[in-house]
Amino acid sequence: MEYSLRCVDCSREFYEDYYYTCPECGGLLEIKIDLASVEVDFRLDGLNLKVWKYKSLLPIRSKPVSLFEGGTPLYRVNYIERDLGLKSVYVKHEGLNPSGSFKDRGMTVGVTKAIELRRSAVACASTGNTSASMAMYAGKAGLKAYVLLPAGKVALGKVAQALMHGAKVIAIKGNFDTALSLVREVSESENFYLLNSVNPFRLEGQKTIAFEIVDELGYVPDRVVLPVGNAGNISAIYKGFKELKELGLIDSIPKMCGIQAMGANPIYKAFLTRADDITPKENPETIATAIRIGNPVNAKKALNAIYNSDGVSEEVSDDEIINAQKLLAVKEGIGVEPASASSIAGLYKLVRNGVVGEDETVVCITTGNLLKDPETVIRVCGKPIEVEPDIESIKKVL
Ligand code: F0G
Repeated sequence: MEYSLRCVDCSREFYEDYYYTCPECGGLLEIKIDLASVEVDFRLDGLNLKVWKYKSLLPIRSKPVSLFEGGTPLYRVNYIERDLGLKSVYVKHEGLNPSGSFKDRGMTVGVTKAIELRRSAVACASTGNTSASMAMYAGKAGLKAYVLLPAGKVALGKVAQALMHGAKVIAIKGNFDTALSLVREVSESENFYLLNSVNPFRLEGQKTIAFEIVDELGYVPDRVVLPVGNAGNISAIYKGFKELKELGLIDSIPKMCGIQAMGANPIYKAFLTRADDITPKENPETIATAIRIGNPVNAKKALNAIYNSDGVSEEVSDDEIINAQKLLAVKEGIGVEPASASSIAGLYKLVRNGVVGEDETVVCITTGNLLKDPETVIRVCGKPIEVEPDIESIKKVL
């Protein structure tokens, strides 16, 4: 398979894998696969689901560094479907990947590319999940891992993962946007391979969410709803659908719907005026710390995905996010972290506002596992009730 790295701003194409941004104009790069050169060697038959089933559409030539990522369940959520009065609603639970988030799809490709490029160290800034996933794959591949986190704003489960999988974890007194700009600088000077979503190879792995949705459902849904933070995932999934369509494997693309937290909503704001870029939000704040991002690097790609698929962006409050998190957990048996629940909260809002029609098939993506963020659970559910170890005391509280 042949591919180039194409600048989304100036359209110049490059053939060196080591660029992350355009050496001419600084724009974001996207992997442009020469689809005529692809020999598709998989069938969309719902079998054997995993990221590397789709290797013929991934720009990797070597043996993958894999921990068996992908193949996540697509649950039909009957309670929510009835509650909303929609034809069919599914949840693709990416929280069931090896490190507990969708990031593993990107990291298996990104870390494999680091090995292909003979790099010895990888780095990222993170609201938590990227760092957990990168540390895990770097460990497996024998690479050093360096992580910059916004101090005090990353859920405990994620910090624990990054530490235990052997990354050097540095907490900066600033937010994610600052951490990202610092890690870009440090990676340049220290020759670390940067694995944030500016890295176009990482996003190639994430596009397999689109492939799996079609593979599992057997058809293309009308709409895909997902949380948006740094805006890489929505861009990647849209690209996945687009490639399947250009290959003639599907004949439509779902409306891509990006949901943001009200306190961290630059994409939503840009969508309201149909702008093709954002105005960064200073001091973003939300209970969904994974998407507490004011200056998403992939904003242009994400807005393009939304506009070109006839999709929308919506914003949800922290209360709406927590209510959706509880609903998924209690009524559907799906445990997710707050950011992930914003997809369901967003769907409720889109239905309420008359954007989603009742005959639609909708897939919501839940990006991270409940166990990632136990502190928020205790905050919103309260602590267990403590009693004396006797039957009477237990009966009293039952
Ligand atoms: N959901 C979860 C659970 C996340 O961790 C993230 C991003 C997103 C949604 C948003 O995805 O950035 O592609 O729009 N987390 C990054 C991190 C920023 O560092 O873990 P996006």
